[in-house]
Amino acid sequence: MSNPLTRRQFLGNSGKTMAGMAAGLSVLGPRSMLSSARAADANDRLGIALIGCGGMGRHKLGNFLDTKQVDVLALCDVDTKQMDEAEKMIAEKLKNEPAGQKTPQRFKDFRKVLDMQEVKVVIIATPDHWHAAPMLLACQAEKDVYVEKPCCHNVREGKAMVAAAAKYKRVVQVGTHQRSYEHIQAARDFVRNGELGEISATNTYTYGNESPDGLGSDPDSDPPASVDYNLWLGPAPERKFNKRRFHSSWRWYFDYGCGMVGDWNVHLQDIVMWTLDTPYPTSVCSMGGHYILADDRDTPDTMVTIYKFPPSKLAPKGHVHTYTLRKASGKPWHKGGIGMDFHGTNGFLHMTRGGWEVEPDLEDWNRPGSEPRIDPVKEMGEYHKKDVEGHNVHVENFLECVQSREKPIASIEQHYTSVVACHLANVSLRVGRQIFWNHEKELCFMDEKMTIEDKEANKFLGREYRKGFELPEV
Ligand SMILES: NC(=O)c1ccc[n+]([C@@H]2O[C@H](COP(=O)([O-])OP(=O)(O)OC[C@H]3O[C@@H](n4cnc5c(N)ncnc54)[C@H](O)[C@@H]3O)[C@@H](O)[C@H]2O)c1
Repeated sequence: MSNPLTRRQFLGNSGKTMAGMAAGLSVLGPRSMLSSARAADANDRLGIALIGCGGMGRHKLGNFLDTKQVDVLALCDVDTKQMDEAEKMIAEKLKNEPAGQKTPQRFKDFRKVLDMQEVKVVIIATPDHWHAAPMLLACQAEKDVYVEKPCCHNVREGKAMVAAAAKYKRVVQVGTHQRSYEHIQAARDFVRNGELGEISATNTYTYGNESPDGLGSDPDSDPPASVDYNLWLGPAPERKFNKRRFHSSWRWYFDYGCGMVGDWNVHLQDIVMWTLDTPYPTSVCSMGGHYILADDRDTPDTMVTIYKFPPSKLAPKGHVHTYTLRKASGKPWHKGGIGMDFHGTNGFLHMTRGGWEVEPDLEDWNRPGSEPRIDPVKEMGEYHKKDVEGHNVHVENFLECVQSREKPIASIEQHYTSVVACHLANVSLRVGRQIFWNHEKELCFMDEKMTIEDKEANKFLGREYRKGFELPEV
C-alpha cells in the first residue's frame, strides 16, 4: 500500500511535492561530549526540538533545559498558541542565563523539524495517536528520541517503534519516569532480593472521583483559529471539533488515547513488570464500562482487569495481577489514590510516587503476636518524601545514554512489554471477554491452548488510519 506519510511529503500538502527540500538526510556526525558537571557552552550544547508543546511537552522541555546541556532549536505544534506558551516558558527558564540560547524555529509539520540536521534529539509529547509516526520518521532521520508514554496508541505501532529504534540504532527513552525515582528503585530491590518471599499476586490501582459531570457536555464547534485541526486529527477519523476531545482530555477517547490504563496504569504496570522481570501476560480479562460520568467518553470510568503472568524468578509458578480503575469513586484514598502492591509469602509491600512501606505477615498466621516474618520498620521507605521528582533524573539518564549509546532506563524495548499489557486490557474490555495472549506470535487467542485465533480481538492490536496519515514504513 502506498503511504503518503513520509518525510518528503508534508502534512496538509498531500499530493504536492516540496520544492526546495534537501533530497535526503546525511548521516549525523559524532556528537560532542557534554560535561554534566557544568553548563555546556553554546558550542557543546545538544540541539533538541519539541514536538507537541502542550502540558507535558512544556514540562519535559523544562527538565531538558534544567540540565543546561541543550539548545532548543525548534518547537512544533499544530496549535500556534501552544508554541507561544512554550516560548514563554523557555524565556522564563533562561532569563538569568548568559546569552547564547538560540531562538527556536517554529513549525506545525514535524517533518520540517526532522529535516534540521543540527537537531540531534526530539522530544515527542503529542497525544498518543500522534506518537508513532513522528518517532518512526525521527529514527529514520537518525535523531535520538524521548517519547512520552504510552509509547504507542496500539500494539502494532509499538512493535514498529521497537524495530525502528533497533534498525537505526537510536537511543529511545520513554517517559515512564517512575523508573528513575530512587525510592521506587529501593522498593524494587527489596522485592528482587527476595525479602518479600515468593510473589503470588500484584495489584495496581487508580482511583478518583469526577462524578457527576466528568468532561461535561459542550457542543461541537469550529476549532480555534490557532489550530490546524486536520493535522491534530492526523490518523484519527474525521469528525467535527469538540473541546472535550481536544487538548488534554483527548486521552479519554479511543480515537486518540488509551483511557486510564494507558494513561496512568502504564507507569504502575511498568514498575510491577520491571520488578518481576515478567515480559508479558498470558491471559487478560477486563470488566467494566462507562457507568457514571455524564460525558460521551468511550473509555471506561470503572474497570477491573485480571492478568495471568507466566512463571518468573520471584513467582516460580506464575502470578496474578489486578488493576482497578475508578473515576467515579475515590475511596479508599490510600496514600494518594494511585499505587502498586506486591503480595509475597513474607508480607505486603505498597509503593507510590511518595514512598513505600512493608507490612509483614506473622510467622504463625493463626497466632496473633507471633514474630513478623520480616522487619517492618528497618526496610521501609518514607512516605511524602520531598525529593521525589523523577522527571529530571529520567531526562539526565537519557542524555547520558545519548552520549554513551547505552540503553536508557526506560528503553523502548522494555516499555513495549508494559504497554502491550495495558493495551490488552483495553482489547479485552472492547471485545467483552477474556483473551489469551501468545507472546511469540503477538496474537490474541480464544483459548488457553492458543488454538483458535481471536480475530475480533486482533483487530484492536492495530487501527484504521485516515487516508494520508497511514503509519510510515521506515
Ligand atoms: N510522563 C508523564 O507522567 C506524563 C504526564 C502527562 C502526559 N504525558 C503524556 O504526554 C503526551 C502529551 O500529553 P499532554 O497532557 O501534554 O497533552 P496536551 O493535549 O496538553 O498536549 C499535546 C500537544 O500536542 C499537540 N499536537 C497534536 N498533534 C500534533 C502534531 N501532529 N504535531 C505537533 N503537535 C501536535 C497539541 O496541539 C498539543 O499542544 C501524552 O502522550 C501523555 O500521555 C505523560
